[in-house]
Amino acid sequence: MSPNKTIENNTAGPEKVQNYQVIVIGAGAAGLMCAATAAERGRTTIVLDHANKMAKKVLMSGGGRCNFTNLYVEPENFLSQNEHFCKSALSRYTQWDFISLVEKHGIEYYEKEHGQLFCKNSSKDIRDLLLTECQQVNAKIQLKCHIEKIEALAENRFEITTSLGCYQCESLVIATGGLSIPTMGATGFGYQVAEQFGHKLVPTSAGLTPVTFNGKLGQAFKTLAGNSISVEVSCNGASFKSAMLFTHKGLSGPAILQISNYWRRGEPLTINLLPDTDITEWLQTNIEQRPEIQLKTLLSTQFSQAVAGFISDLLALNCKLKQLNSQQIAHVVEKLEQWQVYPDDVEGYRVAEVTLGGVETNDISSKSFESGKQPGLYFIGEVLDVTGHLGGFNFQWAWASGYAAGSYV
Ligand code: FDA
Repeated sequence: MSPNKTIENNTAGPEKVQNYQVIVIGAGAAGLMCAATAAERGRTTIVLDHANKMAKKVLMSGGGRCNFTNLYVEPENFLSQNEHFCKSALSRYTQWDFISLVEKHGIEYYEKEHGQLFCKNSSKDIRDLLLTECQQVNAKIQLKCHIEKIEALAENRFEITTSLGCYQCESLVIATGGLSIPTMGATGFGYQVAEQFGHKLVPTSAGLTPVTFNGKLGQAFKTLAGNSISVEVSCNGASFKSAMLFTHKGLSGPAILQISNYWRRGEPLTINLLPDTDITEWLQTNIEQRPEIQLKTLLSTQFSQAVAGFISDLLALNCKLKQLNSQQIAHVVEKLEQWQVYPDDVEGYRVAEVTLGGVETNDISSKSFESGKQPGLYFIGEVLDVTGHLGGFNFQWAWASGYAAGSYV
């Protein structure tokens, strides 16, 4: 495959206006899907991006193996002020559609857990899929292109002034993503464009991010850094059962990243440390059958020595099982089942996988993704106030919204 055919090297010069029917700003997952879909319909299409590489987040995603979708996509896997907005696009371009595309490209994949599909080989397979799809229908991609100004002209046309000259189009798609990982090219550009054309923004914050702890608990977590346990963590009506990782700054791992989308400052996280065990029954059975062993010894049958030591300190009970009175038993059960911790903060955009909030969806068509404020203007992907859970849902949103807009632009 020769990427040079599709990736443009603009030599038009600043004086010449380049005309396309569709211009997409942002060569990420959503923008490239949209461009390929639009160009397949015969629309002359170019994607402009300021970065030096396309689809950088695809490349870095899923630990280099891109968790490109999930077998169990439901609208409930997405957060938005308007919970109905995502439904139409997700039903018109499903996980099965993207899996077919992956199979058409001969990409090998596997299910890791909870329906999460990853590339067997590398994220590059998905980047190449997107590039090939664009290439086959002659959708152009122009990298290292800095957008300076966007203007709406008469007759619903747009003029985009860039570092590489001037472009005009009928349909302009904003696919510039959210604020997470600024070093990968993330900017608030999409939000500025939205505001320029009268759209409201839902306040943004870092999502799918580790949480941090100061003080005594922070110190304890530091000493446990690298240990991982299986937990169920709850907050504000949401609950996730998965791994939790102790880190030098606090807590991370899939369970914590998931719940970070629901946590607000000052609130506790409630953690069940043995989510697959009936803790009362487990404790009673052991008291009867192994009365002479220390509580800490019992804990080390479930956790690593280091974590068992930490939980034992947390329980503040240094005794044999037979010495536990009923109040202490209740205390152990409560702590193991509903341990409450108060994070100080989240780690923030530097490491967050997504951005919560974004362009408010009430003024966007859920069918075409066209702006209700400015005909011909479209917003897709993460720039919108739609955020998926961890597990391939955010890419599925990018594919679905990109496909939906690409079918109308
Ligand atoms: P995306 O951010 O992908 O693309 C936006 C594009 O716009 C970029 O190419 C950027 O350079 C460009 N741009 C920004 N500002 C611009 C400007 N001013 N001018 C021109 N161009 C501009 N999701 C998932 O489902 N499975 C996973 O495995 C992972 N893993 C993962 C790991 C990490 C480390 C991160 C940070 C994120 C994930 N995600 C994920 C989330 C997923 O990557 C994300 O939701 C999608 O990439 C969003 O796609 P978009 O196309 O909307 O934006």
